[in-house]
Amino acid sequence: HVFWPGLLQAYSEWLPINEKTPQLSLNEGNTPLIYSNQLSEYTGMQVYLKYEGANPTGSFKDRGMVLAVAKAKEAGADTVICASTGNTSASAAAYAARAGMKAVIVIPDKYVALGKLAQAMMYGARIVAIRGNFDEALEIVRHLADEAGMTVVNSVNPFRLEGQQTAAFEICDALQKAPDILCVPVGNAGNISAYWKGFKTYHDHQRIHHLPRMLGFEAEGAAAIVQGHPIPNPETFATAIRIGNPASAHLAVQASQESHGGIFAVSDEEIRIAYRLIAREGIFAEPGSAASVAGLLQQTKIGNLEKGQTVVCVLTGNGLKDPNTAIELTASKPIVVENNTQEVLKALKGESV
Ligand code: F0G
Repeated sequence: HVFWPGLLQAYSEWLPINEKTPQLSLNEGNTPLIYSNQLSEYTGMQVYLKYEGANPTGSFKDRGMVLAVAKAKEAGADTVICASTGNTSASAAAYAARAGMKAVIVIPDKYVALGKLAQAMMYGARIVAIRGNFDEALEIVRHLADEAGMTVVNSVNPFRLEGQQTAAFEICDALQKAPDILCVPVGNAGNISAYWKGFKTYHDHQRIHHLPRMLGFEAEGAAAIVQGHPIPNPETFATAIRIGNPASAHLAVQASQESHGGIFAVSDEEIRIAYRLIAREGIFAEPGSAASVAGLLQQTKIGNLEKGQTVVCVLTGNGLKDPNTAIELTASKPIVVENNTQEVLKALKGESV
């Protein structure tokens, strides 16, 4: 394509759309697949980062949301509703606005990163913040939607996963093969399931000739799948994946088993290290996203991965989403001096402050 038309057009033959489906688009998808020199060197593998922060609302959610909202409109709905740790709500609000629909979002109070909240407000969503966590918000949304006739656009909506397959398609199209390993953060467990479905779809149609191993990474304080039971009070600074009762846990387990991969836990400290590391190569992703890189580093360190393989780590959301965490975690704060060249020079030499 000379001009990228967005996912519903670019991947129309692979998606459940027809002539009645509205042509919704914010020109989402077609995100960069960036080769990481430092991660490749460290791991002895070919490591690429799928930079989903380049989507129109800054996360991978746009891939599923464009389809879910288009299908809701096609079915005659006028309002979409979702629970969210932030990115789903930003995306739902944007696509609802684009489609001329209303969005209602329910979020955990004080646990949504600032940029995401700003987005939902600007796109014009009705926002309710509960004194509770994401899992509780999703529970409420599922009840509310039934009663009020609104369409749920969380990843329990099957169109979300259908649309999110396009990330797997893009990776295969770019590499001209499937990677050997895919590393992805796991929260509500929709995305890992969508990737696996996407790879299997391409494999069934002989677009690729082998399937990747799927490695999913939960935050240690919210690792329900790893521990094998829901976590009532999930905790992690990576608020995007602060989820204790993943709705698609069964699909994630299936993806990891069928692909001979695994679901693992990464600590907040491992996530912090990865978050800062990739930024120092010029790639800014939000903390939840860095769980994929943290996982790759962890699995390499314990000797679980053979060298020479092609790996893709998915960076699910843009670093700008969560400026507070970035500023808290970095040492390179601005030095404030008087307005003159000598003072600036002294500051740079470390003589002032
Ligand atoms: N990374 C980011 C940046 C996310 O926002 C999410 C989920 C995930 C990873 C995990 O993906 O849920 O499909 O396993 N965010 C949801 C939200 C829950 O409400 O924005 P998952």
